[in-house]
Amino acid sequence: MRMVDVIEKKRDGKVLTIEEIQFFIDGYTKGDIPDYQASSLAMAVYFQDMNDDERAALTMAMVNSGDVIDLSNIEGIKVDKHSTGGVGDTTTLVLAPLVASVGVPVAKMSGRGLGHTGGTIDKLESVEGFHVEITEDKFTKLVNESKVAVIGQSGNLTPADKKLYGLRDVTGTVNSIPLIASSIMSKKIAAGADAIVLDVKTGNGAFMKTIEEAEALAHAMVRIGNNVGRKTMAIISDMGQPLGNAIGNALEVKEAIETLQGKGPKDLTELVLTLGSQMVVLGGKAKDLEEARALLKEAINNGSALERFKQFLENQDGDSSVVYDVNRLPQATYQIELPAETDGVVTEIIANEIGVASMLLGAGRQTKEDSIDLSVGIVLNKKVGDRVAQGESLLTIHANREQVDDVIEKSRASISISDNGSAPTLVHKVITE
Ligand code: URA
Ligand code: CA
Repeated sequence: MRMVDVIEKKRDGKVLTIEEIQFFIDGYTKGDIPDYQASSLAMAVYFQDMNDDERAALTMAMVNSGDVIDLSNIEGIKVDKHSTGGVGDTTTLVLAPLVASVGVPVAKMSGRGLGHTGGTIDKLESVEGFHVEITEDKFTKLVNESKVAVIGQSGNLTPADKKLYGLRDVTGTVNSIPLIASSIMSKKIAAGADAIVLDVKTGNGAFMKTIEEAEALAHAMVRIGNNVGRKTMAIISDMGQPLGNAIGNALEVKEAIETLQGKGPKDLTELVLTLGSQMVVLGGKAKDLEEARALLKEAINNGSALERFKQFLENQDGDSSVVYDVNRLPQATYQIELPAETDGVVTEIIANEIGVASMLLGAGRQTKEDSIDLSVGIVLNKKVGDRVAQGESLLTIHANREQVDDVIEKSRASISISDNGSAPTLVHKVITE
């Protein structure tokens, strides 16, 4: 087989065979196929698209380009959740113990954050003693006993995707539905998921700016999942403003605890119940989304979800008393309010910009080597649709430095206030097939 023939075939709008797609992925991973041919094919796919069979073949070829995590020693249907980016996205911290408390196993492999704010592991490490450096045997044992554990990313997962994503980034071929969908799905499948729930974000803080684009991506991923034997569902949710109120590591753990107590922000709670219901259905613990939602609400109301979070922290050597006393989490020295300059209604809080403001405080990494300050961040006191009076606090900056003019400037620039406005729709669509 010759790579140039594969490129020409796709360029001319024809359908590639499984063998041709495997030939490309194998050759590219090994270094036999050069970047210029891979980028040429990526551009051909960008313009000519791929059908369902090609997308499934591309996904599985990328899965098999590296290690595949074997979770077969863990009982039950392992459901993984993926969110296509987000700022202050506390959902994983809440969802993991919540769905575990109704019997769905959560075997989470997680990474550290880059940019904006920390990743799930960084957030959890703001609990004194908590760590993810556990053996695979212990990981398996913990998930079987408590239904939830988190382990640091290990192994060589989807090297083909890493290489191809890097290439797409510099060749104008990131924004292609078949390429994005196979990239995301290959990583979830290689991480051992039996079933997958996707939270596709739309809005100014997201990758997919319009609902239509987000929906097309969601459908593409759901189809790939179902075609390769992993039941998959998706929702389209709004990322026109940060989710919940807290942005920053320890601040988000506090918010997660409050949400598990039933006292969390409305939007975060709603998103968690929507995604959690899909996870519970796919995990076989409820017959439909309605029954699943009732189970989850019950677990919040009767305290079992919070109790599961406590157990989870304890299992991985964390100071689990934080669930009863959030003041044990790291706290920043200074709390600085940002007052509104006029009366009105908040009409916009640009999520990415607030994320950057939080990063300026030290909550996120600019490079992989940076260390982060777990205590700092931003807490929104007003959300889009809220009325505000001049002088009232829009947000609170949690800082370990006294002078925060840069953060104030960035925060101000990200918030718009106008005469009228309303709260955005949070969940635009629920996609079950
Ligand atoms: N995120 C991914 O993991 N892959 C893409 O192609 C785009 C976004
Ligand atoms: Ca949040």
